[in-house]
Amino acid sequence: MTSIFVTGTDTGVGKTGISVALIELLQQQGFTVAGMKPIASGCEKTIDGLRNGDAVQLMQQANIGLPYELINPYAFEPAIAPHIAAKQAGIEIDLKVIQQHYQQIQQQVDAVVVEGAGGWLVPLNQHQTMADLAVILDLPVILVVGIRLGCINHALLTVKAIESTGLKLQGWIANHPEASEQTKEIVATLKLHITAPCLGNIPVLSAKERAVNYLVDL
Ligand SMILES: Nc1ncnc2c1ncn2[C@@H]1O[C@H](COP(=O)(O)OP(=O)(O)OP(=O)(O)O)[C@@H](O)[C@H]1O
Ligand SMILES: [Mg+2]
Repeated sequence: MTSIFVTGTDTGVGKTGISVALIELLQQQGFTVAGMKPIASGCEKTIDGLRNGDAVQLMQQANIGLPYELINPYAFEPAIAPHIAAKQAGIEIDLKVIQQHYQQIQQQVDAVVVEGAGGWLVPLNQHQTMADLAVILDLPVILVVGIRLGCINHALLTVKAIESTGLKLQGWIANHPEASEQTKEIVATLKLHITAPCLGNIPVLSAKERAVNYLVDL
């Protein structure tokens, strides 16, 4: 069993819902799993400190209780690009810090599902991007494609960029955050142009439905 880095074609494409579903899938296979949201902008002030909804959802699905700061070392209040949020907070995101946190988590479980923020080339500081974080963690990548007009180009560009790092693209998942046109044709086109396997095709879900039921086994 290996840990996974979850990226997406954009922000708001369903990375969190699918990261939670991937944790659930691995748990169904008998593994103990934790989630990590290393960098989160868009946090709420609480008496315990800044808290991000994505990180909380991942924590709730995990098998073990871990300190919030371990799974989300960089939390920023405004919902803006991470490197800008970090600059405003007067800090620089250090990927080595994230790596140390990741290693601490990884020692306690069979697998860690790491959710990126935004897309693959989101800058994290003056010289590094989310891709550099995936490389430092040395994780296979799962790409969430938010199915909508324009996503084919975003998906194929992201696949190329992932491949250029040398990391394994374990697969991609078609996700439908909302109803849109020609979705069957879009998914068929993506299957034709992406060599890595399609690990799921998730429709617009009602509150009762679970994304995990639409994933294939890893
Ligand atoms: N298949 C789906 N069916 C219904 N709603 C969905 C589906 N996928 C995502 N959503 C909704 O779309 C919104 C965005 O999804 P989500 O927060 O998982 O995206 P994200 O890629 O994690 O965003 P971010 O970049 O902020 O981390 C959420 O409100 C989520 O509930
Ligand atoms: Mg998210």
